[in-house]
Amino acid sequence: METNKTQIIAVANHKGGCGKTTTVVHLAAELVECGKRVLIVDLDPQANVSLHIGKQHPSEISITSAELLTHEENLLVDALEEETNFKGVSLIYGSLNLGKTEDQLKEYSPRPNEELKYKLEPLFGIYDFILIDCPPSLKILTSNALAAADYVIIPIESGSQYGLYGVTDLINHISKIHRINPKLKLLGTLLIKHDKRQNVCKLIQDETNNTVGQLFETTIPTSTKVNQAAILKQSLIDIDKKSKIRLSFSELANEILVKLES
Ligand SMILES: Nc1ncnc2c1ncn2[C@@H]1O[C@H](COP(=O)(O)OP(=O)(O)OP(=O)(O)O)[C@@H](O)[C@H]1O
Ligand SMILES: [Mg+2]
Repeated sequence: METNKTQIIAVANHKGGCGKTTTVVHLAAELVECGKRVLIVDLDPQANVSLHIGKQHPSEISITSAELLTHEENLLVDALEEETNFKGVSLIYGSLNLGKTEDQLKEYSPRPNEELKYKLEPLFGIYDFILIDCPPSLKILTSNALAAADYVIIPIESGSQYGLYGVTDLINHISKIHRINPKLKLLGTLLIKHDKRQNVCKLIQDETNNTVGQLFETTIPTSTKVNQAAILKQSLIDIDKKSKIRLSFSELANEILVKLES
């Protein structure tokens, strides 16, 4: 990895509840453990990342990613919050206002899909990683994340027979984004709630290999510690440093660092 290069990674899949937010939150914590400077941009109106790592409730924040995207002036300095529940992880909050953002961008922005890319530019070189949590849709908010990103991670819910539903639409969408962001690459597909002993997981793993490919060697197991961490607003490192689930996110961070350095 070049020094001072900021790697922007979008975590995207329009399938709801497949593990996007969980991946963003715990990957961020592990990258900090590896000595990296990390910012999370919450682009989801559900604001789940913000509810987990934010010190304040998203409704109390006046400049969130919604205002960052829709104001002509770059409000980055006001949007950036360095103090979060996760030491070393900065946050641009998401909020319910993001629900109106897509219509506002369509109406007022000359480049509705490229506002985030432009607004994050002053941060290049300041963070090692910017992780973007996408909403469960393929509309303008997700396009903004993909247009700004160097890489995309696609989490796939391995324990569900519907885990791959719609994934070809996502791949087609990524191809379309290449027209405005030719550097975007698939960093990997990540199997979530994966259990090698279960047939459904093995089937989804084979099917993911055949349809998308580029599976991370790391897989993420099922663990109630994930919900516990969200409720307690802590990282898995705080909850149980030696647990299988924590070690899997640590392994994921290391796999990513090795991939980006090679
Ligand atoms: N490895 C795991 N083990 C157990 N539960 C998990 C795991 N990963 C995620 N979950 C739980 O599954 C639910 C969905 O996860 P998450 O919120 O990360 O998905 P998402 O893709 O961000 O959802 P959305 O599309 O709504 O934004 C959450 O309740 C989360 O706590
Ligand atoms: Mg989410």
